[in-house]
Amino acid sequence: MQRTFSVGVATGLVVGLLSISSSVLAQTTTDDIAKYREMIAEGNPSELYEAAGEELWKKPAGPKNATLEKCDLGLGPGVVKGASAQLPRYFKDSNKVQDLESRLMTCMKTLQGRDPQEMIDAPFQKGPKKDMEAIVAYVVTLSKGDKIKVSTAHPKEKEMYDLGKRAFFFQGGPMDFSCASCHGESGKRIRLQDLPNITEQKGAALGWGYWPAYRVSSGQFWTMQQRLNDCYRQQRFPFPIYGSDVTIALSMYMAKNANGGTVETPGLKR
Ligand code: HEC
Repeated sequence: MQRTFSVGVATGLVVGLLSISSSVLAQTTTDDIAKYREMIAEGNPSELYEAAGEELWKKPAGPKNATLEKCDLGLGPGVVKGASAQLPRYFKDSNKVQDLESRLMTCMKTLQGRDPQEMIDAPFQKGPKKDMEAIVAYVVTLSKGDKIKVSTAHPKEKEMYDLGKRAFFFQGGPMDFSCASCHGESGKRIRLQDLPNITEQKGAALGWGYWPAYRVSSGQFWTMQQRLNDCYRQQRFPFPIYGSDVTIALSMYMAKNANGGTVETPGLKR
């Protein structure tokens, strides 16, 4: 009896100590990241990607040897400023709702004659995806400070939003996780990361509004497609196809929930 009791106390003590030290550690890490952010606030490393992206935007490429300067991101051909704050959106020419990356693939195909499949098949951070990442950095920087303003007025936009909502709450895999398991409640944290509640405007603005982002831990600039890929990995789901409808739908769901928030891209993340 006494033994059981003391084991119980000891276990309680160990558990107690563990939770204290992990919360202290969590605090330290959050502070460290905040400090790091301050330190490099005047020079987010994604500036290097932006500069490369601007060059790629203006450089003739592909079988048609054309630039992307006439690409229509939703505000008219060649208008980059403010465009990504209103994506995803419906495009008449492709008859599809597109996020930034799938829209850029359309422009690369129609203007430059490039094969979207090569982009889809390429691994992140390599080959054609590396160019995509730089171009994304360039485009999203020109919406920094704008209000997130995504519409579901078009029936296809509404359909995409509804699909995104279903995908967000769709449970499955070995752990029976959905996106909502990790991002459906306020105040959750995993491995010292504060997880925003993406089902609410405030959390959606924090989650959506800061991506694409430069990731300090990997020293890489990540697009939203790569962010989603990594979350599907954490969800123990198969990886989605790059630029596929489910990824656009999830972005539509997050962006629409975030409406009215501020675009803070490119973000600076762990
Ligand atoms: C098992 C838990 C888990 C699941 C399931 C999960 N995520 Fe995540 N998500 C994370 C973690 C952890 C981070 C922070 C990652 C980091 O910074 O390294 C994150 C980050 C994010 C972010 C960026 C948030 C921010 O503040 O920077 C978004 C957006 C996101 N996830 C969306 C999704 C979507 C959409 C799904 C469903 C397809 C999903 N996540 C499924 C754990 C999860």
